[in-house]
Amino acid sequence: MKLKNIAFAAALVAATSAAQAQGAKLKVGLMLPATGTFAALGTAIENGFKLYVAEQGGKLGGREIEFVKVDDESDPAKATDNVNKLIKRDNVDVLVGTVHSGVAMAMAKVAKDTGTLLFVPNAGADAVTGPMCAPNIFRSSFSNWQPGYAMGEVMAKKGHKNVVTITWKYAAGDESVKGFKEAFEKAGGKVVKELSLPFPNVEFQALLTEIAATKPDAVYTFFAGGGAVKFVKDYAAAGLKKNIPLYGAGFLTDGTLEAQGADADGLLTTLHYADSLNTPRDNSFRLAYAKTYKLQPDVYAVQGYDAAQMLGIGLTAVKGDVSKKAEFADAVRKAKIDSPRGAFSVSKAHNPVQDIYLRR
Ligand code: PHB
Repeated sequence: MKLKNIAFAAALVAATSAAQAQGAKLKVGLMLPATGTFAALGTAIENGFKLYVAEQGGKLGGREIEFVKVDDESDPAKATDNVNKLIKRDNVDVLVGTVHSGVAMAMAKVAKDTGTLLFVPNAGADAVTGPMCAPNIFRSSFSNWQPGYAMGEVMAKKGHKNVVTITWKYAAGDESVKGFKEAFEKAGGKVVKELSLPFPNVEFQALLTEIAATKPDAVYTFFAGGGAVKFVKDYAAAGLKKNIPLYGAGFLTDGTLEAQGADADGLLTTLHYADSLNTPRDNSFRLAYAKTYKLQPDVYAVQGYDAAQMLGIGLTAVKGDVSKKAEFADAVRKAKIDSPRGAFSVSKAHNPVQDIYLRR
């Protein structure tokens, strides 16, 4: 009898604390770059995420959302400490991050070890939704392979045969080039030289000289953020743009086009978003974003917005109780996410299955 009472009391306490936890604010840890070459990308992701939450009246799955933030500086060496701060010091319920693939891999490892929910709103590291995939890890963006592979097909169809690639030497650059090369060489093209420099260096001159000397039919590139602005300008200033067409994964010109000005005119890139889709869904998103932030949205803003949508889908299914991991994952896996890019669903490994646009 006594034992039964204790068990009953314990069950009551557990039920009460679960109910309290559901009533409490949900703590979302934003781990994004606020400094460095990807700073603007971090801002756009945060803006997009917060726009969706605001559209839902500040609540997802019945729980008010509270944010804590860490500037990850796009520095993989600091990533594990930064993510542990959010989990252990700030006790976040959900992690959202990040832009840089190397930092995201460290986040994914900690998320996998601790079971903390993680939404990756940009970083394309193939492993995050490959060998490292987990029931509690979701990506609202892309894998590095996706835009690269699409461009391999495009450049082969254009009749280019010999191509030089140039990128930063880290997971995103390597995997983008690998995806490109896979499709391009399958279609009969040849990558004659793979050039790279360490992230986030922007001293492109020696490599541009090498491109001029190699005289390929075209160049494929992965750069993003501040580095992409400088690369496009340096490529034109070196006199290469007229003779050797430049192509890239769409990060080359997304969020950077204004700063690149005429030097970006005519560039063809592949990406899972474009600013001229002219669908009712994208138009209403773009209008709301522009009104709220006095800024034009870009792919990063969309990815942040969709990370919040995915979190909302999971939370609604479990009525705000993040401990129900299997039901949470099941709901996201079954969902069609109503993205400004066009509706998409996620693969078994939680990566978007989506269309890639060719943009000029
Ligand atoms: C990445 O590191 O995965 C990355 C960074 C910036 C981008 C795209 C991918 O624009």
